[in-house]
Amino acid sequence: MGDLADNERAAAEIAERTAELERAQQQLRESEELYRHVVELSSLIPWTADGQGRILAVGKRWRDWTGAAPHQATGTGWQDFVHPEDADGLLQAWTQAVWTGRRFEREWRVRGADGSYRWCHARAAKRADDGGDEVVWYGTLEDVQERHEAEEGYRRAEAELAHVSRLSAMGAMATAIAHDLNQPLTAIAQYVRGCKRLLADVEGPGREELADGLENADRNTVRASEIVRRVREFVTRGTVETRRENLAELVEEACRFAMADPGANGVRCRLGLDGECTVLADRIQIRQVLVNLIRNAVDAMQGRRRRDIVIQTGCGRPGYCEVSVTDTGPGIAPADTARIFDPLYTTRPDGMGVGLSISRTIVEAHGGTIWIDSRDGEGATIRFTLPVAAPADGQAPEAAA
Ligand SMILES: Nc1ncnc2c1ncn2[C@@H]1O[C@H](COP(=O)(O)OP(=O)(O)O)[C@@H](O)[C@H]1O
Ligand SMILES: [Mg+2]
Repeated sequence: MGDLADNERAAAEIAERTAELERAQQQLRESEELYRHVVELSSLIPWTADGQGRILAVGKRWRDWTGAAPHQATGTGWQDFVHPEDADGLLQAWTQAVWTGRRFEREWRVRGADGSYRWCHARAAKRADDGGDEVVWYGTLEDVQERHEAEEGYRRAEAELAHVSRLSAMGAMATAIAHDLNQPLTAIAQYVRGCKRLLADVEGPGREELADGLENADRNTVRASEIVRRVREFVTRGTVETRRENLAELVEEACRFAMADPGANGVRCRLGLDGECTVLADRIQIRQVLVNLIRNAVDAMQGRRRRDIVIQTGCGRPGYCEVSVTDTGPGIAPADTARIFDPLYTTRPDGMGVGLSISRTIVEAHGGTIWIDSRDGEGATIRFTLPVAAPADGQAPEAAA
């Protein structure tokens, strides 16, 4: 009797354990299903490798991407699809990871089925309890080409901006030097001519040599003045290549640039843009003006509690669009407003004093004007205008025949 009861209890227990096991298996299946779905939906391609770093399996999308044959999807076949310039570094990094067991992370270019290369980001981690020839590395591969292209575009634009900045800074310095040299040069020329006149009434030994020397000095001051004049002409008559540009887009672009600067952290920039403004502008040069104004605003607000910039665009006087850049800095004292556009005028310890002078040269070369609209202690507003572009060819009303 006792045995029967024991058997029943044991059977009940077995049934219960079996049910438990089935529930656990069901949960495992669901969890596997979930992970499989997640992996398939994500942009990551999963892969695994053994303790020697040989690929055991890789997601199906690897073969779709590269057009790899089945044997190229495992072992070391993937190495055939690495850009030659990336191959050495990548192999070295992977070998080192396999050797040390440290996490692996690297970006490299994969050759696609169409022969073109795309950047990918590979990551892998080693499983803690590896055994024999089993899977020990779990990795992913991600297509990061778009991010690379965006970064590349940003770097190129930044280099372009820096180039224009350097050129304009040189131009502004040249103007300043030319301006300052002109006065002493004029004085020298006048003294030399005065001496030549005095010498006409003098007789005696050495007179000829003296006359020759003065003549030479005269010729050279003329030459120096000519050089100065040409430099000033070159800088002030710098050519602008204007095209129809949407002003709002230009402002947005410049803003993205200037605000990417670490110094602009914590500065709020609000835009009030009229999307209809189409101006005649040299895109790079006007972007330079906007970046100069935004950087000045950021510099002026350093250390302030409220650091806001407002940029607005709209109609100006007839035939012109107007841009304003307003900040919450200390503003510009009325006494300084006349000087801040002068080349090399700066009140900042690390300033160059060329930003505003370049900006004025550029705006005026476009046929616009730039001015300050600012009350001392209340933040500064700088405004400038640009000529409105005539309607594009297709939109122009036909002339009456
Ligand atoms: N937004 C502004 N607020 C206050 N002062 C300004 C502002 N913008 C320009 N300034 C003044 O004009 C000077 C000249 O500016 P700039 O030509 O850009 O040269 P830099 O920025 O190198 O000093 C600055 O040193 C500063 O005194
Ligand atoms: Mg400046």
